[in-house]
Amino acid sequence: MTRVLVLQGPNLNLLGTREPEIYGHDTLDAIHARMAARATELGLDVAFFQSNHEGALIDRLHERDFDVVVINAAGYTHTSVALRDALLAVHRPFWEVHLSDPWARDEFRKTNFIHDIATATIAGHGPAGYIEALEQIATRFGSAA
Ligand code: DQA
Repeated sequence: MTRVLVLQGPNLNLLGTREPEIYGHDTLDAIHARMAARATELGLDVAFFQSNHEGALIDRLHERDFDVVVINAAGYTHTSVALRDALLAVHRPFWEVHLSDPWARDEFRKTNFIHDIATATIAGHGPAGYIEALEQIATRFGSAA
């Protein structure tokens, strides 16, 4: 069974109350519950990890107990060479997901340290983007990567 690690970066633990006009009203737990249900339908094994700390996200990647990553690096998308290096170091394909479309927002959000090394990027589709990522992963790898 393909093992998918869903990695959620800083401030995503506050979804539901964090700038809902941009990020919507769903909590991270609600999004993860829907992802878990869809993963079961798709035959994917899914694990979730959220941290507000760059090093904790990197340490989680170093565990390498997954075949594919779905990552919303949040603010670290625009700042973190170290997270980029970790994604390259673990040699696993990853899907970059953003709830909003960073390219349509502030100028500084157009700087992106992971986009060019992502297998795919889904941005601006809200929580549905995470489900789309799982569906694309299932299509690409089936349940036996
Ligand atoms: C985000 C977009 C980032 O620019 C921002 O820093 C976030 C969330 C998104 O999901 O739209 O924290 O990754």
